[in-house]
Amino acid sequence: MRIAIFFHSKTGNTEKVAGRIKAFFDSKKALVELYRLEPAKDLSPRELEKQVQVDLKKVPFVLSDYDLIFIGGPVWGMQPTPVVISFLKTIEKAEGKKFVLFLTCHGFTGSTTKKMSSILVAKGAVVVDFFTIKSLFSLGEKHLKKAAELCEKIYSQKILRGLKDPQS
Ligand SMILES: Cc1cc2nc3c(=O)[nH]c(=O)nc-3n(C[C@H](O)[C@H](O)[C@H](O)COP(=O)(O)O)c2cc1C
Repeated sequence: MRIAIFFHSKTGNTEKVAGRIKAFFDSKKALVELYRLEPAKDLSPRELEKQVQVDLKKVPFVLSDYDLIFIGGPVWGMQPTPVVISFLKTIEKAEGKKFVLFLTCHGFTGSTTKKMSSILVAKGAVVVDFFTIKSLFSLGEKHLKKAAELCEKIYSQKILRGLKDPQS
């Protein structure tokens, strides 16, 4: 099973979850790559939110290399961050590819998952699952354990059967 994890994180919460997802699938002997999504220019959330399409630092990847692709980010103003939206829009050759979306936030996701899914689904991708880790403060072990449990649930889903050979 080959897995890519793309994440945007400004203050470290989503990065911690991405790291825990990687640790979980590493433990299942999957081949896992972690990709940080960053704007080409270091801008504040307020400046980023003014942009329709954010220029991102290049992340060299080939989507067809992966069986399952995680995409995560924080919720900003009940929406995906402009960095995540911009990345989703650039994805090509997504037909039939399986995605899992993950979010971190204080408590209110609004239309975030729906917006992310609709961009992918319009490209023919399949969103097999999504989850949100909520916390008012910096994420601790309790939250990361929850992320690992959600990964276990995803791992045991029917949809992943047949992908479990690490070299497939
Ligand atoms: C500009 C901005 C807007 C935010 N809007 C929301 C929101 O609408 N709902 C929510 O629950 N949390 C909101 N938050 C909190 C973040 O989603 C939360 O702290 C998240 O875990 C940060 O992730 P990161 O540490 O990976 O950057 C907002 C934070 C920022 C900076």
